[in-house]
Amino acid sequence: MADEIFQHYSVMPGEVLECLHPQSGEVFLDGTVGGAGHACLILEATAPDGVLVGLDRDREALEAASRRLAPFGDRAVLRHGNFADADRILAELGIAAVDGILLDLGVSSFQLDTARRGFSFQSDAPLDMRMDTSAGLTAADVVNSMSIDDLTRIFREYGEERYARRIARRIDQVRAETPLLTTRELAELVRDAVPKGRVPSRIHPATRVFQALRIHVNAELDSLRDGLQRAMALLKPGGRMAVISFHSLEDRIVKQFFRGKIQVCTCPPGLPVCVCNRTAEVELLTRKGLRAGDAEVEANPRARSAVLRAIRRL
Ligand SMILES: C[S@@+](CC[C@H](N)C(=O)[O-])C[C@H]1O[C@@H](n2cnc3c(N)ncnc32)[C@H](O)[C@@H]1O
Repeated sequence: MADEIFQHYSVMPGEVLECLHPQSGEVFLDGTVGGAGHACLILEATAPDGVLVGLDRDREALEAASRRLAPFGDRAVLRHGNFADADRILAELGIAAVDGILLDLGVSSFQLDTARRGFSFQSDAPLDMRMDTSAGLTAADVVNSMSIDDLTRIFREYGEERYARRIARRIDQVRAETPLLTTRELAELVRDAVPKGRVPSRIHPATRVFQALRIHVNAELDSLRDGLQRAMALLKPGGRMAVISFHSLEDRIVKQFFRGKIQVCTCPPGLPVCVCNRTAEVELLTRKGLRAGDAEVEANPRARSAVLRAIRRL
């Protein structure tokens, strides 16, 4: 770790600030503080006395964030944890509500680029993929123990992988001889299992399987569903929340969650008066998801798949 540099380009920084509109003295929650690029901008905008609570499931990310945010002193408060537990963590800090929340989902470039974390098929490393390396099953545990049906379902649901069953069957054959332990073993197995010429050559055939395993290992979609609910409950009236997602499964959850909060009356048509008494809880700040501009995508290709959605609580 000593000679590894935490490098991560924060996605759509200008758009995030515009949506969150941080002001002096406000309190923010960054549920995915990572390398603290966005957090730094929020702390600058909330000077001189605004506070930012930064959470991350990854202790290495927190170490990087703590170095980067040191100049802000006790205005930056960092905690190890899942943003799905944000309400409990903030309650422990004596914070009942916040002015703004950012969730910049998924993994950081640092996690992807650090071979030993096992997120990437570009280099050989133990098949781990846990953001929080102190808890839960590794990707190796999953591929060596899960049934063919369950592996197929995960590759299909979380990777939208066309050859899910073929790959799961191949895993089952190989692990019967010897367990799969490294990223390279899995990447090569997938490449051999899918029909040649069916996957565009610019995409590694294992891309979708790696994404699927990562989502499963970290229960990313469950955390997102819980995290959105908890985050909404923490927002003050007038408070804002911005969420950046990196694939369609995440974006769909965010879009539906926000849409559900702007839905007004849910009474069946024909009732003479409204009996549900539902009023919109939020205003959408982004009617359509925002995407990074060409210049940003050129400088940081990872920004290509990012979609930013934001709301203001009424
Ligand atoms: C894309 S990076 C965030 C980068 C950050 N916005 C910046 O500007 O440097 C996502 C970070 O969120 C963390 N993360 C992902 N899911 C999480 C969750 N459910 N709870 C807490 N942290 C999470 C990852 O460990 C990673 O460090």
